[in-house]
Amino acid sequence: MPDENCTICGGTGWKILERGGLSGAELCECSRTSRTAANKENSRIPPKYQHVSFDNFKIPQDNAHAREHLGQALLQVRGFVREYPAVDKPGLLLIGENGTGKTHLAVAALKALLEKGYEGVFFDYASLLQRITQSFDVASGASLREAYREALEAPVLLLDELGAYKMTEFVEDTITAIITDRCNNGKTLIATTNLPDPNVTGTIFQYNDPSRMKIARRTLAEVIGPRARSRLFEMCRVVQMNATEDYRVKTGQVYPKPQK
Ligand SMILES: Nc1ncnc2c1ncn2[C@@H]1O[C@H](COP(=O)(O)OP(=O)(O)OP(=O)(O)O)[C@@H](O)[C@H]1O
Ligand SMILES: [Mg+2]
Ligand SMILES: [Zn+2]
Repeated sequence: MPDENCTICGGTGWKILERGGLSGAELCECSRTSRTAANKENSRIPPKYQHVSFDNFKIPQDNAHAREHLGQALLQVRGFVREYPAVDKPGLLLIGENGTGKTHLAVAALKALLEKGYEGVFFDYASLLQRITQSFDVASGASLREAYREALEAPVLLLDELGAYKMTEFVEDTITAIITDRCNNGKTLIATTNLPDPNVTGTIFQYNDPSRMKIARRTLAEVIGPRARSRLFEMCRVVQMNATEDYRVKTGQVYPKPQK
């Protein structure tokens, strides 16, 4: 609870912050402790990522390419959190291959914002879209519809693995609606995806089994639809996660463990 006699915020719990012509509200010291504890409690960060932070994001020293790119990505994400809420664009989009640390950095950013006093929630894209799809069945419970409301209303939304769910017209409309609503209202979105985008990653090819034909991988626009992709770029600082190795594989986080 804010201190009603606080001379800094006048008892509102928030102070106005101005930087570089941009302004926003920042949590006042008088209400920090109680607020940030409650925020963490409600954030739905999966147990597997509860320990992650900027401090335990390692920059590889044995690979110059990965060192430069991941170092750059870490700086960009840290910069966003430091400037927040006086940021030019209210979102962050982390694009890169599997195991490059996208979810790690996205959660670290979310946690840092919770720490600053903002409310936010973590949603896995597939389970969010599945819950929303099911919620439109007549017999489904209100708790499923609640997920949609939460994804629209949360001041900060972390949408992990954008595009990792089978696409239907309904799913495309839903994700477009969520992104457009956040974009129009300047609400923060932190998204991760491993889908390629020609403007960021260039075209990525893969070999199609069994014909061994080289084909272009499906792009972000092809999967989530061009409208959602366009809004996403409008509202987000784009961070490319470019590592040459999958951190899970490199550090032996493979399940099941390979037989010796
Ligand atoms: N640079 C790093 N330093 C420390 N831990 C890392 C780093 N990169 C990844 N990890 C850890 O490796 C695991 C995989 O990383 P993460 O889940 O963030 O990858 P991702 O890019 O989201 O992959 P995917 O596309 O498969 O979702 C996590 O446990 C994460 O904490
Ligand atoms: Mg991930
Ligand atoms: Zn105060």
